[in-house]
Amino acid sequence: MKFFIDTANLAQIKEANELGILDGVTTNPSLMAKEGIKGQEAIFNHYKTICEMVNGDISAEVVSTDFKGMVEEGKKLAAIHPNIVVKIPMIKDGVKAIKWFTDNGIRTNCTLVFSAGQAILCAKAGAKYVSPFIGRIDDSGWDGVLLVEQIAKIYSVQGFKTEILAASIRNPNHIIRCAEVGAHVCTSPLDSILGLLKHPLTDIGLAKFLEDAKKL
Ligand code: G3P
Repeated sequence: MKFFIDTANLAQIKEANELGILDGVTTNPSLMAKEGIKGQEAIFNHYKTICEMVNGDISAEVVSTDFKGMVEEGKKLAAIHPNIVVKIPMIKDGVKAIKWFTDNGIRTNCTLVFSAGQAILCAKAGAKYVSPFIGRIDDSGWDGVLLVEQIAKIYSVQGFKTEILAASIRNPNHIIRCAEVGAHVCTSPLDSILGLLKHPLTDIGLAKFLEDAKKL
């Protein structure tokens, strides 16, 4: 399973990248706004900086909601760097835009996916990635990982090539469960990635080893 970080914060991207296990970055308009990035030039420069920091796929989201607008915006985003993947929302014109990008050699990440039916449409349109939102499904009283499992089963039975990119990750256990049910990628906040490191017995064991090492 590939590890992406879900942020537009450069310090966090750097920290995750320095672990040596980072395969890409996902962003969205909310994450860009959180960093105070305003205006098209600043946004494009920020994406370029991220592309130069991390050797992997970088998702950049369109804010248009009509087919023509998404195509025009996506073409500009894709021109920033070869590693840009154009992020498109799961709406009717979004499906049309994904198909257009597929036919024109531009990779897409279909975002805001909350059902297996939506995931089938993404795959049919040829999206590189489908992004089911695990945490938001959990918030609504369901189990987001079960959706990842269902999509993985459907894609396997049907031979779809679209990769499942589990998004809206809220904790380390989400990452573990997504790996278990066959997500190809997990995009997580830095604290969820670092949370995988933690175990009290590791800390206790290391303290004992270091104490005994003083006797050597
Ligand atoms: O990048 C999309 C997704 O990961 C958003 O997560 O935490 O806002 O539900 P969240």
